[in-house]
Amino acid sequence: MSETAKINIQGKETELPIIVGTENEVGIDISKLRGDTGAVTLDFGYKNTGSTTSAITYLDGEKGILRHRGYAIEELAEKAEFLEIAYLLIHKDLPTKEEYTKWDNEIRRHTLVNSDIQNIFDAWPTGSHPMGQLIAMISSLSSFYPESLNPNSGEEAKMRTITRLLAKMPTICAMISKNKIGHPLIYPQNNLTYVENYLNMTFKHVTEDYEIDPILVKAMNKLMILHADHEQNCSASTVRLVGSSHANLYASVSAGVAALWGPLHGGANQKVIEMLEAIQADGGNAQKYLDKAKDKNDPFRLMGFGHRVYKNFDPRARIIKKSADEVLEKLGVNDPTLAIAKKLEEAALSDPYFIERKLFPNVDFYSGIIYRAMGFPVEMFTVLFALGRLPGWIAQWKEMMEDKQPIGRPRQIYTGPAIRDFVPMDERK
Ligand code: CMC
Repeated sequence: MSETAKINIQGKETELPIIVGTENEVGIDISKLRGDTGAVTLDFGYKNTGSTTSAITYLDGEKGILRHRGYAIEELAEKAEFLEIAYLLIHKDLPTKEEYTKWDNEIRRHTLVNSDIQNIFDAWPTGSHPMGQLIAMISSLSSFYPESLNPNSGEEAKMRTITRLLAKMPTICAMISKNKIGHPLIYPQNNLTYVENYLNMTFKHVTEDYEIDPILVKAMNKLMILHADHEQNCSASTVRLVGSSHANLYASVSAGVAALWGPLHGGANQKVIEMLEAIQADGGNAQKYLDKAKDKNDPFRLMGFGHRVYKNFDPRARIIKKSADEVLEKLGVNDPTLAIAKKLEEAALSDPYFIERKLFPNVDFYSGIIYRAMGFPVEMFTVLFALGRLPGWIAQWKEMMEDKQPIGRPRQIYTGPAIRDFVPMDERK
């Protein structure tokens, strides 16, 4: 294979290096394109643009492959603990037993949040969306831990900032749930694992004993691993872009949460359940909604279907679909929306519109059904996505900082008016 790509633009020629990844992905390094030719590239939605090199996650959308630091997602989802995956993503390799114990203990020590954080909750109107609250809460950590404000203040301070965020995230997410229903908070209990602690803080009532169901722990652990990272998606790219200005980690991740909120990204899990409920209320006619999704004059899209990168199947969706069956059966939950989801999937997968466009169920299609069976309200679903995605955002931010990447600042092709004279107000019509 040639090691350079030759480009000739309006008579100006340049030779650009070809970059080959460890899985033989090929990219053209266009860093000197503008200098040599005056031209920039234009790629709406970055459909063909690599924004970085990265050693965190490998994804092959044609083959349905997802690997973190070389480990297959199928194996990780089956065999690992969520905090192990967090370590793997952030520290580049699996921890030894000793490293894991230290990591786990360190995180357990930082689970409490400053009690003043509750004052922020008290100011919000009832009915505030949990994702809006999560954005503000994560960002507010920069006020409680001002040493985080300078992300270049050394390895130890950086790791403390990272540990605090990982440790406090379940506490904050559970506070959002409790505030939503007006119940007293349940404090973190540091004899519990990361996942157990989160479930306990969310589902325990202050007046009653609560036994943490191992079925919920296993399901939650798996779902969080399946969400842990997904290379340069909209929210991870946002975290990198915001962080590239050397904004602190809390501000950068909070921006990532904002990006995740949208229904085309992580907000899809809430929209899927709302869609399935609407179909059910409308008599359960899957075909009617499939036809709506195909109709270009109808803004309706089949939520939980399609993906920018996966063009064969989403390996996470496969695991989650199987998990949905198991969890609902084990919990004895009979959710009619699961049957509707399966009907929709079956119909879509044999429909030429979906086949031609390579549209398959994505990670959000079945996850909401499990979350609901576990007892989470629909508005919390995207918060749960964020809880799982946190180590990925941190790893992406850390890699970007350690690689000393320049500030992210795309170019544009200007399409507005050419220069014209300003007309003072009294001379205008
Ligand atoms: N329902 C109906 N048609 C669809 C859908 C859908 N869910 N998704 C894509 N299409 C069509 C689209 O109209 C276009 O058709 P045409 O070529 O005739 O114009 C074609 O398929 C290609 O779609 P696109 O919008 O150009 O693809 P994209 O890569 O820009 O968007 C997507 C990807 C995920 C935003 C999109 O598939 C979508 O809106 N899906 C529904 C929302 C959703 O489930 N999002 C969660 C994504 S997975 C979780 C995550 O990591 O964020």
